[in-house]
Amino acid sequence: MTDACHLSFDPAAMQVDAIHAFLTRSYWAADIPRAVVERAIAGSLCVGAFASGRDQVGFARVVTDRATFAYLADVYVLETHRGRGLAARMVKALHDHPDLQGLRRWMLATSDAHGLYSSLGWTGIDDPAPFMQRHFPDVYRQG
Ligand SMILES: CC(C)(COP(=O)(O)OP(=O)(O)OC[C@H]1O[C@@H](n2cnc3c(N)ncnc32)[C@H](O)[C@@H]1OP(=O)(O)O)[C@@H](O)C(=O)NCCC(=O)NCCS
Repeated sequence: MTDACHLSFDPAAMQVDAIHAFLTRSYWAADIPRAVVERAIAGSLCVGAFASGRDQVGFARVVTDRATFAYLADVYVLETHRGRGLAARMVKALHDHPDLQGLRRWMLATSDAHGLYSSLGWTGIDDPAPFMQRHFPDVYRQG
């Protein structure tokens, strides 16, 4: 079944309405405006998974300088296509992307999908003390 889906890095192939529809019901980006999704896609290196009917069924993006650092975000696969290795294929495709070789650090945040990433070589942060953040969890609800 997985073989019926193909991956693409083509920014023009990303189906913004479908991506926005999923993200608005995700635990991390509920209420995200469509225009913000569009801007995020434009500023990221994205991978999409497409079913044979060309519908987009999966997505992931990397925010990166393409030299030193990458932040992996918005990884999802539609419920109908889960459990077939699609998320792993998308993340591996990003790992292998020619613009993302030799980076010093990749990061991501996840509530419950640690198993997916640890199977792909990601680890927890032994010492979180050096890391800081600016975090505005309600920003999409403020209009
Ligand atoms: C998490 C998600 C992207 C996984 O997609 P998927 O295509 O079903 O995942 P895969 O089939 O590629 O799974 C690959 C491996 O990761 C494991 N895995 C997948 N989701 C997992 C999860 N939530 N927790 C732990 N392990 C997980 C699978 O068991 C599989 O392991 P295996 O190779 O040993 O069999 C999908 O369930 C999803 O979209 N969830 C909602 C959005 C979300 O939580 N995204 C992650 C945000 S960081």
